[in-house]
Amino acid sequence: MKRRRNIILGIIGLGIVGFIVLQIFPIGSIIPDFAPPGNPPVTYTVNWDSADTEKLAKAACFDCHSNETSYPWYSSIAPVSWLVNHDINEGRRKMNFSTNTHLFSDEMETQIEKGEMPKWFYLPLHPEANLTPEQKQQLIDGLIATFGEVDFNG
Ligand code: HEC
Repeated sequence: MKRRRNIILGIIGLGIVGFIVLQIFPIGSIIPDFAPPGNPPVTYTVNWDSADTEKLAKAACFDCHSNETSYPWYSSIAPVSWLVNHDINEGRRKMNFSTNTHLFSDEMETQIEKGEMPKWFYLPLHPEANLTPEQKQQLIDGLIATFGEVDFNG
């Protein structure tokens, strides 16, 4: 009985030590995309066609595609933080409202219509990003009005 208790305590102890090691492990220096992205300066202000478009885009896209990310408490706990950091680093690189990076309405429209964006795993903890079909259409129309219809890079 004593032996079994020791084994259980040992496993719990290892788990605690492992968790602490995970928190202090410098993963960002090995995989740069896992490093905390923080919020670099905003160098571009979108000239939104309406306050509604701005509100919808901020609710559904800004956490991964702007430098105005709000970080909930669990986003700094490894290994969740690694995944969150990775998505923000990659998301900002692909498109960033705060730096005028790759803001093409037709690509945004495609992503929203296909249901690719916002990412599905983001929605359960961000119900405000879970847009109704009407809100999606309103956001798409607003993005086209804001960024123009034509993608010259397309
Ligand atoms: C949870 C984070 C997250 C949210 C929220 C999010 N995105 Fe993304 N987005 C990403 C990541 C990561 C990528 C790059 C990898 C990929 O395409 O899956 C990306 C890529 C994109 C791309 C480029 C696609 C390509 O293949 O080049 C567009 C356009 C885009 N997102 C639009 C949006 C729009 C519009 C919204 C809001 C309706 C949004 N995203 C919300 C994480 C996010």
